Amino acid sequence: MPILTIESTCDETAAAVISDNGAVLADCVATQEDLHERFGGVVPEIAARAHLDRILPVIDTAISQAKVSVDDLSAIAVADRPGLAGSLLVGVVAAKTLAVAWQKKLVAINHLHAHLYACQMAYDQPVYPCIGLVVSGGHTSLYHCTSPLDLEFLGGTIDDAAGEAFDKVGAMLNLGFPGGPAVSRLAAQGNPKAFEFPRSMMHRPDYQFSFSGLKTAVRYAIAPPPASKQSKSAKAVDPTTVQLDQQTQADLCASFQAAVVDVLVAKSVRAVKETRVKHLIVGGGVAANPVLRAGLQQAAEKHRFGLAVAPPELCTDNAVMGAIALKKIERGEFADLNLDITAGLQR
Ligand code: KG4
Ligand code: ZN
Repeated sequence: MPILTIESTCDETAAAVISDNGAVLADCVATQEDLHERFGGVVPEIAARAHLDRILPVIDTAISQAKVSVDDLSAIAVADRPGLAGSLLVGVVAAKTLAVAWQKKLVAINHLHAHLYACQMAYDQPVYPCIGLVVSGGHTSLYHCTSPLDLEFLGGTIDDAAGEAFDKVGAMLNLGFPGGPAVSRLAAQGNPKAFEFPRSMMHRPDYQFSFSGLKTAVRYAIAPPPASKQSKSAKAVDPTTVQLDQQTQADLCASFQAAVVDVLVAKSVRAVKETRVKHLIVGGGVAANPVLRAGLQQAAEKHRFGLAVAPPELCTDNAVMGAIALKKIERGEFADLNLDITAGLQR
């Protein structure tokens, strides 16, 4: 019997229907990008209210797309962590309410584990045990995964996430929100060696990342800092007010992107080698980036490990990756009606 999966951790309201053998019967995503664009980032209160408006229509659409009736569903799965509190609450309350009304079992999903499960869904051979890299707007984390549900956190960013850095660079260049796809498009016309940006923590023997220094380096490449020691009153120039020609913008994007990709690839390769696994899986919005995908592919060929990157349509937030709930059902891991959200950036 199929399951209904619900995702509302950040700013996409999504529902999917997945059959018990993993076939995707419906995939419905309502994006909120238009609502957050003018603020240059996701506004939690606006996101929660928009989820509230959209959650029932999205669920209805998914069920009718799947051509199933509510009676056919065996369970309702929902991402209960991590994410924005108000956003998570809408999904979890909807799932619990429908579980009671329709008398269905309830399954709780970790959104980050789901991002990584999207890789296995699109890959025809087993990938576990493997290293998992989640690169999204909120996370840049490496895991040692022995199954879709058994993940040991190895390390992650100590400041900005990779996607957040893309978004902030996009904002400095007035490229709209989210900046990642726009920066990546512009980078395709740029020279990745035009600017020398830092590869923070790349050679440190741990699995931590840091992108805030890189973000600042881009900012100062756009608008040099004031010579503060001489004149205390001098203010830093707002990078969004600086007029740059198209080629310089493209070069900045390409050089920034190259710095992010170098660090992500280097640390992932090291994790694969040190844990002696044979596969690397990569999910989350930034995994849609073509230069990152190409860099990972080259590294996989050079170091001879299997690579499974989520297909681009399953990189950004969606409910299809909620198919990981089938693994929980196999283990008999159901949630009860006390299910609460776990907000924040927990892994
Ligand atoms: O996984 P996701 O949809 O949401 C979170 O769980 O955070 O990831 C969204 C992030 C945003 O920061 C967005 O700018 C970034 O993924 N992103 C990209 C690309 N497409 C989306 N970053 C770089 N290149 C892309 N092509
Ligand atoms: Zn996500």
